[in-house]
Amino acid sequence: MCGIVGYVGQQDALEVVLAGLRRLEYRGYDSAGVAILSPDGHLAVERKAGKLANLEKELSEVSLPGTLGIGHTRWATHGPPTDRNAHPHVDCSGDVAVVHNGTIENFEVLVRGLEDRGHRRTSDTDTEAVAHLVEERYEALGGDLAATVRSICKDLEGSFVLVVAHKAEPDLVVAARRNLPLVIGLGDGENFLGSDVTAFIAHTREARAVDQDQVVELRRSGVTVTDLEGTVVEGDSYHVDWDTDAAEKDGHEFFMLKEIEEQPEAIRATLGGRMQEDGLLHLDELSMSDQDIRDIEQVVIIGCGSAYHSGLVGKYALERWSRLPVQVEMASEFRYRDPVIGRSTLVIAVSQSGETADTLEAVRHARHLRAKVLAVTNTVGSTISRESDAALYTRGGPEVAVASTKAVMTQMTAMYLVGLYLAQVRGTRDPDEVRAHLADLREIPDLVQEVIDRMGPVRALAKQLAGSERVLFLGRHVGYPMALEGALKLKELAYVSAEGFPAGEIKHGPIALIEDGTPVVIIAPRHALQAKLINNVQEVRARGARTIVIATDGDEAVTPYADTVIRIPDTKSLLTPLLTIVPLQVLSAAVAMARGLDVDQPRNLAKSVTVE
Ligand code: G6P
Repeated sequence: MCGIVGYVGQQDALEVVLAGLRRLEYRGYDSAGVAILSPDGHLAVERKAGKLANLEKELSEVSLPGTLGIGHTRWATHGPPTDRNAHPHVDCSGDVAVVHNGTIENFEVLVRGLEDRGHRRTSDTDTEAVAHLVEERYEALGGDLAATVRSICKDLEGSFVLVVAHKAEPDLVVAARRNLPLVIGLGDGENFLGSDVTAFIAHTREARAVDQDQVVELRRSGVTVTDLEGTVVEGDSYHVDWDTDAAEKDGHEFFMLKEIEEQPEAIRATLGGRMQEDGLLHLDELSMSDQDIRDIEQVVIIGCGSAYHSGLVGKYALERWSRLPVQVEMASEFRYRDPVIGRSTLVIAVSQSGETADTLEAVRHARHLRAKVLAVTNTVGSTISRESDAALYTRGGPEVAVASTKAVMTQMTAMYLVGLYLAQVRGTRDPDEVRAHLADLREIPDLVQEVIDRMGPVRALAKQLAGSERVLFLGRHVGYPMALEGALKLKELAYVSAEGFPAGEIKHGPIALIEDGTPVVIIAPRHALQAKLINNVQEVRARGARTIVIATDGDEAVTPYADTVIRIPDTKSLLTPLLTIVPLQVLSAAVAMARGLDVDQPRNLAKSVTVE
């Protein structure tokens, strides 16, 4: 969480930094701020509580000329989201400005020492300590800002990306990274820093990832990266093929609405180039020999939030096709239960951002136990992808809305691909069957488009549900993870108390929640278990529930028990989550809009949660 931006070049730094912050606002929106070094050597800092728009309003009344700047958008950890806690933070003299993503765990000890040595604190943050430490050490280290930051990093515990500007350095921004994301954008006569590439893709598509405990010196003429000892480390740059349009709203009221519409294309991108001419799969990215794949004895899938739900769908597909036992676990719980895994375990870490702290720590633990870790992620160069043995990129393009839509869709698609590939190599499905399943998958983008085109009645339904205090979601088999996802979406977007259950479980307790008129969404596409599901629909309806049923075209088996029917086209039952998820996304967004809420930036959340 927290987005950071750094720039040194020829352009107006304020414009570049603010544009970068707009793209990173999904990472946190409690407060925002910038520091710009003016041509006459003044380090001007402006910061404001609330969303970036508040800061922009304030900035419209001042002039901050300069071609070097840093910026921050905050998700509060230490200290409430007030003006005084907004970044950048400065030292006693105002010569140093620092923005920070992460938490400095030993900041209290550092602050006590600083106060004893006469520094005055003006915020409640952990970050401010760094500005004062720079003030103390800069002169002593010969006015070498990078050496100063390296020396400070050695004294810091916790996770951080720090970006530092100094009044005496008109051609230098210094950044450091431990555990959290930092990417360099390489320009011509200008260079950039960002929490992710969207911060600078309007200017350059050449990027370089920064590794653990590295310090970056960003100058107009170039970039130097060193380790904490000051030894220069070489690194490869990579080309980002996302374009700027992908990170714009493109006429939509919210990014999420646009991202829902981008799903057919996103699925095509995930499937693209991964099938061979013989119709079988080709997944070199797994970096596993056929023998390695045959040696797998169990699979463990880990993820958080919606990524966990993609993992649950993956379990059904992997077990069905590859006949391997699969466990799915929330990443935050995984390493604390002493999991029984080892060399013959394949751990699949699902993460859109590739930066989620819970998932990253689970990956580290799994590798420590010698399991093979495959990252399924949307973010090239992310920490999880780099710390895993292999990465399968979902290629969904940038997702800006905090609540995940196309990222989940592409994660599920990737899980199907992994399931089929394991089956193909292990021979648990014959090649013709693998080809047939792949052919079904290739039809999904058109079917998703069809669902998107039919969402008018779902939006109308949302208006009727806008006043509901509680909504339940039921599903069986692969419908169950979608019930969880539907409930999560409604909670996070519309602040409605929502829960998802396996439909068969409702009679063991949750049915007590049903009162006259309680909306219950039942995910009931044509399926082997449908007869049982119909019993469950009847059970809740008999207790007064208002039943909203997602059903397959032409299937009349459920309609007698449905107050509202939402239709989806037919596909193989195992693939139905790729279709049933769409009305759940649209419903949640539309309920949130009917309640007058900000669909892209729900309260208290951040897209990329980089604290445990
Ligand atoms: C946050 C977001 C969720 C997301 C989860 C995992 O909680 O609000 O939408 O599913 O993190 O994120 P990841 O980047 O690891 O997929």
